[in-house]
Amino acid sequence: YPLYKDVSGHLASYISQKSSNTSSSGNSVCSWSTNGINLSNDETLFELQESSVQNKAAVEKIRWRISLQLRNQQQAWQESVEGKRMLEFRHTLPVYKERDAILSAISQNQIIFVSGETGCGKTTQIPQFILESEIDSVRGATCSIICTQPRRISAISVSERVATERGEQLGESVGYKVRLEGVKGRDTHLLFCTTGVLLRRLLVDRNLRGISHIIVDEIHERGMNEDFLLIILRDLLPHRPELKLILMSATLDAELFSSYFGGAPLIRIPGFTYPVQTYFLENILEMTGYRLTPSNQVDDYGSEKIWKMNKNAPGKRKSQISSVVDDVLSAADFNEYSHQTQESLRCWNPDYIGFSLIEHLLCQICEREKPGAILVFMTGWDDISSLRERLQAHPILGDTTRVLLLACHSSMASSEQKLIFEKPDNGVRKIILATNIAETSITIDDVVYVIDCGKAKETSYDALNNTPCLLPSWISKVSVRQRRGRAGRVQPGECFHMYPRCVYNAFVDFQLPEILRTPLQSLCLQIKSLQLGNISEFLAKALQSPELLAVQNAIEHLKIIGALDKFENLTALGRYLIKLPLEPKLGKMLIIGAIFHCLDPILTIVAGLSVRDPFLSPMDKKDLADAAKAQFSVDQSDHLAIFRAYEGWKIAEMDQAGYDYCWKNFISVQSMKAIDSLRREFLSLLKDIGLVDSDLTSNNVWSYDMDLVRAIICYGLYPGICSVVPNDKSFTLKTMEDGKVLLNSNSVNSKESTMAYPWLIFNEKIKVNSIFVRDSTAISDSALLLFGGNITRGDSDGHLQMLGGYLEFFMEPSVAGMFLTVRRELDEVIQSK
Ligand code: CDP
Ligand code: MG
Repeated sequence: YPLYKDVSGHLASYISQKSSNTSSSGNSVCSWSTNGINLSNDETLFELQESSVQNKAAVEKIRWRISLQLRNQQQAWQESVEGKRMLEFRHTLPVYKERDAILSAISQNQIIFVSGETGCGKTTQIPQFILESEIDSVRGATCSIICTQPRRISAISVSERVATERGEQLGESVGYKVRLEGVKGRDTHLLFCTTGVLLRRLLVDRNLRGISHIIVDEIHERGMNEDFLLIILRDLLPHRPELKLILMSATLDAELFSSYFGGAPLIRIPGFTYPVQTYFLENILEMTGYRLTPSNQVDDYGSEKIWKMNKNAPGKRKSQISSVVDDVLSAADFNEYSHQTQESLRCWNPDYIGFSLIEHLLCQICEREKPGAILVFMTGWDDISSLRERLQAHPILGDTTRVLLLACHSSMASSEQKLIFEKPDNGVRKIILATNIAETSITIDDVVYVIDCGKAKETSYDALNNTPCLLPSWISKVSVRQRRGRAGRVQPGECFHMYPRCVYNAFVDFQLPEILRTPLQSLCLQIKSLQLGNISEFLAKALQSPELLAVQNAIEHLKIIGALDKFENLTALGRYLIKLPLEPKLGKMLIIGAIFHCLDPILTIVAGLSVRDPFLSPMDKKDLADAAKAQFSVDQSDHLAIFRAYEGWKIAEMDQAGYDYCWKNFISVQSMKAIDSLRREFLSLLKDIGLVDSDLTSNNVWSYDMDLVRAIICYGLYPGICSVVPNDKSFTLKTMEDGKVLLNSNSVNSKESTMAYPWLIFNEKIKVNSIFVRDSTAISDSALLLFGGNITRGDSDGHLQMLGGYLEFFMEPSVAGMFLTVRRELDEVIQSK
C-alpha cells in the first residue's frame, strides 16, 4: 500500500480505497462515516498509525468517535425490552456475580485464571465482560479480543450465542473464524476462533500486534494445540506488556498452571448442580431384564472374550432395584469378568453390548419417565451414525412426532447445531447422540438424563515402539463426573453408565495431556514453520514436556520422510505438508499422487485411511461379509480394496442405488459418504496450494495404472515396510525393528497363502500381545527401490543409507548393493534436474 509521506493526500485515497474493499457485512453497528469515508478496522488504524505524527492525531480522533458510537449502540440495546430480558438471563449465571472481580483482576494483572463448572457462563460471558467494559470506557475501537476454542463447533455456536445476547448479527462486533470458514466484519472486536486459527495467525504476525486480549478456553483439556500455544504466549508476554491473557477451564490443576505462569491469580466461580441419581450397568441390567452371556466368537486379535446380550427376564421398576448407587452387582453374575483389574477393562468391550441395551433404555425413559432431554455419550462419530440408523428404524424412537433425534459431533453442519439448543414441542422427547464434545465445550440446557458409554476416541502413542494409534479408550474419572454433571443442570437428573462399577473403579483419575500421548510429527513441523528454534529445546518449555525419545522419534521420522533436512530445517516438501492438516505421511502421499498424475485413487485411499474401516463384518454374517469383501481384494492391497469399494459405490450412486450396493456388499454407507466429503476437502486444499489444476484432467492421466498407485502408496508409507518370507504352506512377515509381525485379521492379505510381491508396505502397526500390521499393500522390488524413502534434493545420502539398511537386512548384500547403485544413479538424475 502507498507510503504515507504526503499525509493528507495519500490518507484520503487509501481510506476510500480500503472502505470500498471492505463493505462485506453491510450491517455494521459502528460504521462511522465522514465525507464518504468509512473507517473502523483495527488493521487499518494500525497501518495508519505507523505513518506520521499528524496521522496519529487523526487516527485518535477517528477511534474516539467510533468508540463513542459503539457505546451508544450498546446502551441502546441494554435499555431495549429484548436487551433487558437478555440481561436478566445473563444475571442468573453464576459467573455474573464475579464480573467485577474478574475485570479488576484483569486490569491489575497480565495473566489470570478463571475456573468454574461447565455451564456457569465462562465462555459466553467473560469475553463479553471485557468487550462491554472496554466499550463502556470508550475504548471500543482499540480493543481486539480473541477467544480460542479447541473445536470448531464450539467456536461457531458460542459466537452465535454471544451475538444474540448483544442483539446483533454475527459479523458485527462479534465474529468467528475456523479453518475454511468464518464470519468477521470490519467492526468485529471479539473473535471466537479455534486454537489452530490463532496458531496460523502467528505465522504472519509473530507478536500478535493489534490484539489486546487473548482468552484461551478449556485449558483443562490439555489439548496439544493449547499446550503449544501456552508455550508461545509465555515467551511472548514479556515483549507485549499491554497484552492480557485470560486462561479458562472447567476443572483446574491450579498449582501446575499457576507455577507455570509465575503465580498468576486464580478466580474460582462457585457452581451449583442438582443431585444426579447414578446407575451402573449392573443396575441397568436389572431394570431392563437383560443378561450377558459369553459368546464363543473371538474378535480381531483372537484374545478377547465377548459378551452378548440376551433378553430373558422382565425388567424391573427402578424402585424394585436392589441397589442403586453404591453396591456392586451380586457376585454370581459378575464375578467371571469383574476382577477389578486392568485386565477386566480390556475384556469389557461395550461395543458389543451397547446398542440394543441403549435402545431399550431409551425406550424405557421415553415411555415411563418425566420430561427432559436425553444426552447419550458415544465413542465416536461412527457409533453415533450406526446407532442413529438403528433408532430411526425403531417404532417408538423413530417416530418423529414423539422423538426429536439429533447428533452432536465435531464435524456437523452449522444448521444441525442450532437444533441441539432448541426446545422441542410439547410432548416431544429430545435425544442427542454426542461425542465427548458435549462433556465441556457445549452446554445443552434441558438435559435431564445422561447415558454414558464410557469410551472416547483418543490418540495414544507408545514412544518406545514408535507406534501410534487412534483407538477407543476408556475415559477418565474426571470425564465421568463431567458427563454425569450434564444431567443436573436444571433439575435433579439421572445418569446411566453402560459399564459395571468395578470397571469404573479401574478408570484413571485424569487423562494424560495430549502432548504426552500422541506422535509429535505435526507439532514439530509447526514449530519449524513458526521459526521457534530448536525443536527439543522448545518442547522442553512445555507445561509437561514430552519424553525426549518421543521428540527424537518424531524428528527422525520427519527426516526419513524428507520433511526436514539433516539440520532440522524444513524442506520444500515440509513446507507443503504444513498446509495439509493430515498426518505427514498421508499428506505426502497426496502431494506425490498429484505430482505423478494419479490423484484420484490416492484421494480415495488417503480419505479411506482417515475414516472408519468401510468393510463391515457383523458377527453372525461373517462368512457372507468375507465373501463380499473378496471381490474388492484382487490386488493384495487393503488400500486398493477401499478404492475399488468406493468406485463401485460412486457408480451405484448415479442410479440412486448406493444404499443397496452398501447393503449387499457389507460396506458402511457412512464411511463412503465420509470418504466422499473428505476427498472434496483434500482436493480444495491441494488447489489452494497450487498442486492441482482446476479441471483435474492432467492430474489423473495415470490414475488407473495400479502399479504406479502401489508405488505412490509405498512412497507415502515408507518406512512402514516388512519383508514377505515364503514358507511351506504360506508366508511369514518380518520387519527390521520387530522381527516377526502378524497381519490384522481384517486385512485382505490375511486370506492369501502366497504373495505376488516380496514386500508389504503398511499404514500402522499396533501392539496387542504380538505386533500386528494394519492396512497393507504388496509391492514389488522396483516400487520399493524407486519410491522407498525420499526422492528430493538435499539429504539423499542419509536416505539411501537407510534404504540400503532395509534392503541388506532382507537380501544378499551383493544384490542389495546392486539395487542401491541403481537408486543412487536415479537420485542423481533427479537432483541434476
Ligand atoms: O463456558 P461455560 O461452560 O462456563 O458456559 P457457557 O458456554 O458460557 O454457557 C452458559 C449458559 O449460556 C449455558 O448454561 C446456557 O444456558 C447458555 N447458552 C445457550 O443458551 N446457548 C449457547 N449456544 C451457549 C450457551
Ligand atoms: Mg465453556
